[in-house]
Amino acid sequence: MELEIIDIDDLGRGLAKVDGKVCFINKALPNEIVKVKVTADNKTYLEGKVLDVVKKSKERKSSFCPYFKECDGCSFDITNYQYSIYLKEQAIIKMFLHDDIPLKNFKIVPNNENLGFRNKISLKVMDNKLGYYEENTHHFVEIKKCPIAKECINKVINDFNLFAFKSGNLTIRANDNNEIILIINSNDKVSIDKELFKHHKIVGIILNDQVIYQDSFFYERRNGLLYKVSYNAFFQINKFISEKIASDLLEKIDKDDVILDLYCGVGYFSLKMALKAKEVIGIEVVKNAVLDALKNKELNHIENVNFLLGKVEDKINKIPQKFTKVLVDPPRNGLDKKTIKFLLNKKIPTIIYISCNPKTLKRDINKLKEKYEIIYSKGYDMFSYTKHVECMFILKLRCGTI
Ligand SMILES: C[S@@+](CC[C@H](N)C(=O)[O-])C[C@H]1O[C@@H](n2cnc3c(N)ncnc32)[C@H](O)[C@@H]1O
Repeated sequence: MELEIIDIDDLGRGLAKVDGKVCFINKALPNEIVKVKVTADNKTYLEGKVLDVVKKSKERKSSFCPYFKECDGCSFDITNYQYSIYLKEQAIIKMFLHDDIPLKNFKIVPNNENLGFRNKISLKVMDNKLGYYEENTHHFVEIKKCPIAKECINKVINDFNLFAFKSGNLTIRANDNNEIILIINSNDKVSIDKELFKHHKIVGIILNDQVIYQDSFFYERRNGLLYKVSYNAFFQINKFISEKIASDLLEKIDKDDVILDLYCGVGYFSLKMALKAKEVIGIEVVKNAVLDALKNKELNHIENVNFLLGKVEDKINKIPQKFTKVLVDPPRNGLDKKTIKFLLNKKIPTIIYISCNPKTLKRDINKLKEKYEIIYSKGYDMFSYTKHVECMFILKLRCGTI
């Protein structure tokens, strides 16, 4: 059937109406008319796939990716970069407005290089080939490159024959020095050709959580600081944007602040904030990340910061300090009930919420809004061309809250 795209949703999908039902269509832009194959028919909505574009948006351009038809990773590879930013801004503004939360002057900071920025990529291995499953299917798509990943990662993908294994998972991580860590999960034999080390700066190989070559970590330099990052510790995937967030964040910190940094990873933001604040305490659940954070404190000679190992929800009520600010940077599923309760009960004057998922950000703000109001909101194009947006929101305790 032919459908007219009337809008875009918060997942970057085009929206059309069919007999009163909404139809969500990947890779279709507003004002386009597209020929669609319906792939799912639910009670209240349909899902469709573009077969042909009958009337093109003036913003449409051909994709930079050879796999754009099968891969749903980049929703906006079919348009120019500036327009993708505009669509993402509109999607977030509308999403919040839907819950009566108007965002004043919400803008997304663009990326500096919108291809080749990702320092980590996770792929499936099947029959000695690298690739991924097409979204919501078990259809394996072999790939030879991913244009949004760093060039040194793509070079490793290209040389997969030098360490190929039959099946499993492969994660490739790179630092700004193009050093590479390979993380392999497989029950099959992995034999590694020495040529691999001649062509790539491999600094560590981890097979099923065991180090089989050199180290389990590398170092990253960001924000003028040095960070040790273990293979299984989170680290910001985009150098330019993560440095922008850190410098915006620092502007919001005062010298008398005592800050709680929840979900602190290797101390990426904690250390930066500690340069200005009186004291920072970070909490993180991954042991290697906390050990890295403690090492990073030492490497950068920063004294007024400490890190606790454990789940945020288990640790928060056991800390005696009175905090002036709390930074939360949770995983995609957002804050859990205990953490929301803690924030409502403790009435910390300022919450800085950094989020990679605007949906859970909005959900949590709805829960906090009886006591907190939004005083600042900004987006960052951490994941260019994909539907994802990083956000920093600042919430202030409402006057007279008791
Ligand atoms: C989005 S990352 C942010 C890390 C850090 N703020 C940074 O910028 O590098 C979320 C972090 O939360 C950690 N995490 C996930 N669930 C947690 C929990 N329940 N308690 C503590 N940390 C958790 C993850 O290991 C990860 O390091």
